[in-house]
Formats: sequence, structure tokens, C-alpha cells
Amino acid sequence: MSTPRNPLDGLGELADRKISRKSLLKAAALAGAAPVLVGTGVALAREAAAADTPAPLTPECTDGHLTEEQIEGPYFKPGSPLRTNLVTSGTPGTPLTVSGFVFGRNCLPIAGALLDFWQADTNGNYDNSGYTFRGHQFSAANGAYTLTTIVPGLYPGRTRHIHVKVQAPNQPILTTQLYFPNEPRNATDTIYDPDLLMTVRQVGNGREASFDFVLNVNGTGSPSPSPSSSNPGSPSPSPSNTGGGSTTWTVGANYRAGDVVTYNGVTYVCIQGHVAYAGWEPPNVPALWQRR
Ligand SMILES: [Fe+2]
Repeated sequence: MSTPRNPLDGLGELADRKISRKSLLKAAALAGAAPVLVGTGVALAREAAAADTPAPLTPECTDGHLTEEQIEGPYFKPGSPLRTNLVTSGTPGTPLTVSGFVFGRNCLPIAGALLDFWQADTNGNYDNSGYTFRGHQFSAANGAYTLTTIVPGLYPGRTRHIHVKVQAPNQPILTTQLYFPNEPRNATDTIYDPDLLMTVRQVGNGREASFDFVLNVNGTGSPSPSPSSSNPGSPSPSPSNTGGGSTTWTVGANYRAGDVVTYNGVTYVCIQGHVAYAGWEPPNVPALWQRR
């Protein structure tokens, strides 16, 4: 975490660099061309190896800037609903969409990454009894995600922010927070980190924000792998849970629709592919598991 003397200093330069980087990555992913970026790096590595020179280290897709980790804070609640839209037509507040991509350190998008968002309502209050303004989703095959919500309200001691946990399949959880530019409290919030600023623009009566996560794992650039598929870029094999019979539900396992598990002696069927996450025990997440 960095706490510059004046967090607004140098933001323009930082934003420019981040935007250009993000734009490049997004354009590549949208065009299905992300492998080209990495392909170039791979080719360079091979050429270097052929020339008997040291292979380059991790491709420089992040400028050395993996997404920073931040504290979870006191308001995280496991078991959020599976949804990308946290609002209804009657929800008060300024409409906001947050979109972007989840990338690995190797520049490849990460498919099936868990993104679990939580935030305050427009008055700065968290719903600690229910799940208002809480929801999780999984990145698409090209790493893309979109969250539909409102601009979170302010509460004492903090600048405006959105909390999120991001987890590539079978990888450690990144807990962090996203921030808004041009917020006066950015200058006084000691948790605030300019590296976690979203790019935000006004659109009609709402705002559109973007932020790309770069996780310290290898992206695979392909949809959720099946156990039989060959996936050379995969950092590690998924725990096997598809042997035909049921297995005990396990944190970190990569479940697919149709998988059967037991939990506390009860049998459940997976109704949506996902990576199991502590707190998402089958009884807690009816969107993911159906009792059989
Ligand atoms: Fe918060």
C-alpha cells in the first residue's frame, strides 16, 4: 500500500499509464487476441533460449504492477448471491457499472475467476443482516466481468470504495478495494491506494467504471478446463471431483454443473460451475448447489 504525501500528485501520469495498459489488454482480449500478446513473449523466450541467453522472466504485461491487496474490513459476509446486478429499478443511488477483465501475470485472461463484491448503499450503510449490495460472479472465458450497482455512499473514516475478493480457480484469494478518482477523501483515507483507482466516466445520469485485475497466477485464456482437456498454460490441475460418484465438498475444488458432493451427510448437485470458496458450503449457496 502506498500513501503518498498528496495522493492526487502524479495521478494524471499514473492514470495515463494504467489506461494505456488497460486499453491494450482490453483491446486484445475483446479481439480475442490476448494470446498474440503472450505469443510474442513466448516467441521471444524461445528465441532467447535458442540463442543460449537467459530467457526473460514473466512477460511484462503488468509493468510489475499486480493488483494490490487491501484489508477486508469488517463488513465482508460469505455466501453472497450469484449475481452481476446488485440493484433493482427502485434502488436509490447513482447508477454505476464496473467492468473489466481478470488477467494473470502472464497477460492471459483468467476464465472462471470468482469476483465477490460488497459495498455500502448510497447512504454509506452495509447490509449486515442480508445481502443487499453483495454478489459474486465468475469471469467469462475472455476474463471479462461486469457489475451493475450504484455509486457507494460515504461513511465515517473512509473514502468512497467498493470491496472485492478475486480468486482464480484453485488459487489464493486476492482481497482488495476499488476507488473513485476525484474524491476529496482520497487525500485523507490512509487505506486508499491510487493503484486501485478505477477509470470512471459519466454516462447520462450514471457512471461507467473500469478496472482490470492482474492476479499473481498464470492465466489460461481458455474456459474452465475439463479434467481431460490439455491446457498447457494451466498453473495446476484442478482437484478431481468428477469420478462419477459423490465426494465430500472441499474448499478450492473446481466444481462443474452436475457434480455431486456430500456435505454434513447431505447430498447436493452442482447447478453452476464454480470454484468452492470458504463460506460457500452447499447449504449456504442455493444458487450453486441443489439438494438431491
Ligand atoms: Fe468498506
